[in-house]
Amino acid sequence: MGEGGFHRIYIGILILIAILTTSYLAYEGYAYYLLGIEDRFFHPDHQTLKPSGILGHGFGIIGSLMMLVGVLMYIVRKRVRRFSRFGILKHWLEFHIFLCSLGPVLVLYHTAFKFGGLVAISFWSMVAVVISGVIGRYIYLQIPHTIEGREMSLNEINQTKDELNRQLVQVYHLDKSALQEILQSVKKRPDRSGKSMLKRSIAKFLFEIKIIKEVKTILRRNQISAKNIRQVTALIKNEIALNRKIDRLITMQNLFKYWHVAHLPFAILMLIIMLVHVAVTVTFGAHWIF
Ligand code: HEM
Ligand code: HEM
Repeated sequence: MGEGGFHRIYIGILILIAILTTSYLAYEGYAYYLLGIEDRFFHPDHQTLKPSGILGHGFGIIGSLMMLVGVLMYIVRKRVRRFSRFGILKHWLEFHIFLCSLGPVLVLYHTAFKFGGLVAISFWSMVAVVISGVIGRYIYLQIPHTIEGREMSLNEINQTKDELNRQLVQVYHLDKSALQEILQSVKKRPDRSGKSMLKRSIAKFLFEIKIIKEVKTILRRNQISAKNIRQVTALIKNEIALNRKIDRLITMQNLFKYWHVAHLPFAILMLIIMLVHVAVTVTFGAHWIF
């Protein structure tokens, strides 16, 4: 199994941990969490699941630590040159997303689904950062990155495309004229004029199916074996995706700059009020298992 295979399993395990933890806690606690504030007091799980209970408090501490670690390790790895050879930045971002998704879920269980007081600001900032994170992740994926996770320049993207075309010729023995024909197809753009966003997306989706069909016809005409057609089509889909990203590269790079400016303040607001919240609860005598 190649490195890609192991990486997929690793990502799968992270997703599984997040889903299992979330559903296990929901399953164990829903009877308590669904109760109104007055009724909770009499529920047998109140002493453990309330925000200051042994479990509820623990969720808050572990969830907050996960977020702290998730943010700090990513910033240090990304910005401190000394650590720049330590693993692949993309993988650190994936771990950031894992810790900063499961962390907020644990904090949600810590609040026992009741968000009052000053710390509610911290909670809603956290929600804002998570939502903004999802949007940021989407923008990030629209910008081609190197394997190490650095943004590619237009030059590098074009080199990647040349490399794809070289593979088509050298590995799959496509002749030059067939390649030209395919590149012509792949270059075409759907009609974008005067349609709503939904209609444009549907049109784009159908258009790409049509292009792939065209490409497959060209491949069959050029006696590419059925086995290779699948692999060649995958390469060409890559190329179409790259073309689409090039079209929107400047927009997405600008959006991503603004996004960074918006993502950080909520993270800081969340952190500061969280620290105040911890200071207040500790001052009023909260202690966990120590
Ligand atoms: C972003 C992180 C956190 C958020 C959003 C948060 C939010 C909350 C909320 C909404 C409550 C319930 C307040 C109420 O009942 O009116 C609460 C209670 C509590 N939290 Fe947190 N919390 C966070 C982190 C922490 C951490 C790290 C600790 C401990 C080190 C902690 C300790 C407590 C304690 C002891 C209570 C119970 C207070 C009481 O019942 O009087 N929290 N928290
Ligand atoms: C409480 C939750 C979170 C906090 C506090 C947080 C905080 C941060 C911080 C401080 C940065 C560094 C910004 C910078 O480099 O200038 C960052 C980057 C990022 N985060 Fe989060 N984040 C959270 C959750 C998420 C989630 C859930 C996602 C995705 C689903 C996400 C996706 C990203 C992405 C894509 C980047 C940019 C990476 C880059 O440009 O190198 N974050 N986050």
